[in-house]
Amino acid sequence: MRLPIIAGNWKMHKTIKEATEFVDKIKDQVVGTDVEVVLCVPYTSLEAVKKAVDGTNIKVGAQNMHWEENGAYTGEISSTMLREIGIDYCIIGHSERRQYFNETDETVNKKVHIALKHKINPILCVGETLEQREKNETDHVVKNQVMKALKDISAQQVKEIVIAYEPIWAIGTGKTATPQEANEVIFIIREGIKELYGEDICLEVRIQYGGSVKPSNVEEIMNQEDVDGALVGGASLDPEDFVKLVNF
Ligand code: 13P
Repeated sequence: MRLPIIAGNWKMHKTIKEATEFVDKIKDQVVGTDVEVVLCVPYTSLEAVKKAVDGTNIKVGAQNMHWEENGAYTGEISSTMLREIGIDYCIIGHSERRQYFNETDETVNKKVHIALKHKINPILCVGETLEQREKNETDHVVKNQVMKALKDISAQQVKEIVIAYEPIWAIGTGKTATPQEANEVIFIIREGIKELYGEDICLEVRIQYGGSVKPSNVEEIMNQEDVDGALVGGASLDPEDFVKLVNF
C-alpha cells in the first residue's frame, strides 16, 4: 500500500525562530499517524528544523535545488549541500519556479536526476493553467510535464519520486479542484507512469494533490482512490491547521 504523504510547502515564510516554534507546537500531535509528514521550509531554516524534528518521524524538505553539484551559480544551493544536513525531500518544478524563475521541463528533469543521485526524494510538481484547463488541454499538458521530468529515470528510481499535481489556478486562490477532478488527473498521471514503467511500478508511485487544501476539504480529497497525499501551502503555515491536515 502507498503510505499517504502530507507535505507543507512554506514557500517564502517563517524565520528560523518561527520555524522551530512551529515544530515544537506540532511535533507531539503528528506522531503515531499512518501518514508521512514533511515540512518543506526555506533554506535558512533547514538545519534548525532538521534538529528540531530529531527523534520524531517528521521529514524535512527543501523547495528547490540546482542541477549541478557545485559551480559558479551565484545564489544557488546544490543537492550535496542539502544532503550534508540530512534533507530528505526537495520540491522540484513548483509552478511558482516555472512561472517566476524560468524553470523548464528540461531543468526539472536535470534536478530530478541530481536529487536522486544524492538520495533526496523529489516532490515533482506538475499542473495546468486555467487557460489550458478551459481549452481541455489538462491531461495532455500534465502528462507531457511528467514524461519530460522522468526522462532517463529508471523504474527503481521512479519509486523514490513523489509527484504533486497542482493545478496552477487552484494555488493560493481558494479555488480547489473538486476531489473528483483531482482524482481524474492523478489517474491520468498514473496511467502515464504505467505506460513508461508497467503496472507494478505505477501502483507504487505516490501522487499528491496541491492547491488550496485546508482542514475542511482534506478528508474528501484524501479519500479519492488515486490521491496519496497533499502538498499544502497557506494552510501549512498554521500549526493547528497543519495538525488537522495530518490527522485527516
Ligand atoms: P496553497 O495551499 O496555498 O494553495 O498552495 C499550494 C502549493 O503551491 C503547495 O506547493
